[in-house]
Amino acid sequence: PAIAAIMPAAGIGSRMQSSVPKQYLQLHGKTILEHSVAKLRSVPAIQQLWLALAADDPYFDTTALANDDIIRVKGGDERMHSVLNALCFIDEYQYPWVLVHDAARPLVRKSDIEQLIKRCISSGEGGILACRVRDTMKRGENTVSETVSREHLWHALTPQLFPTAILKAALNDAILAGINVTDEASAMEWAGHKVLLVEGHSDNIKITQPADLALAAFYLEQSI
Ligand code: CTP
Ligand code: MG
Repeated sequence: PAIAAIMPAAGIGSRMQSSVPKQYLQLHGKTILEHSVAKLRSVPAIQQLWLALAADDPYFDTTALANDDIIRVKGGDERMHSVLNALCFIDEYQYPWVLVHDAARPLVRKSDIEQLIKRCISSGEGGILACRVRDTMKRGENTVSETVSREHLWHALTPQLFPTAILKAALNDAILAGINVTDEASAMEWAGHKVLLVEGHSDNIKITQPADLALAAFYLEQSI
């Protein structure tokens, strides 16, 4: 089945402390956004790409993507609003599956994206790329109140892939109910849907803080 992809890229990147939003920072000669878009473009099953951009974004048109056949939509106040803005326009009959990937994750592997697609479509369930927690996990404030078993703990990554109509309804309902959804899966879980955990590689980092840029450059060199 045909897959549409949404890339939320309307954030300001406050934790990155850079004047330019992080998706427009350079990494090996092109912007982080261009790396992320190229990864989705490399997967043939992804046939349509929607990009949520800030309403006053002056940077996009200066990139090589300006003439690409990407469909642009306005971003919202929070990531979930940016995703929903794109989702509203997607034809769920032509594109029964939708994949959401953060613009700030340029290192995702094509093979991991394909693994996610294969697992979800063959089972008919939505799912996310995730990686296992490695450290011992503690809950608490100044002192430890408990050790949380890491046996069943995962880091949620992107992409996340879901049936289009079901995700649209779940995100809409969760937002109306005032639920704070930080990823697509949390809206699906809240609505009672099953979400598959598909183990991906931990080098699929989300560029968040200044040091992440050097780490991303290092990973990129390793993969060339
Ligand atoms: N995003 C978006 N719309 C928003 C907020 C975030 O499209 N209103 C996008 C970002 O551009 C990013 C992805 O969602 O690609 C993940 O968000 P995050 O890493 O939190 O990016 P920012 O919100 O830009 O960074 P920060 O939280 O540090 O401000
Ligand atoms: Mg944010």
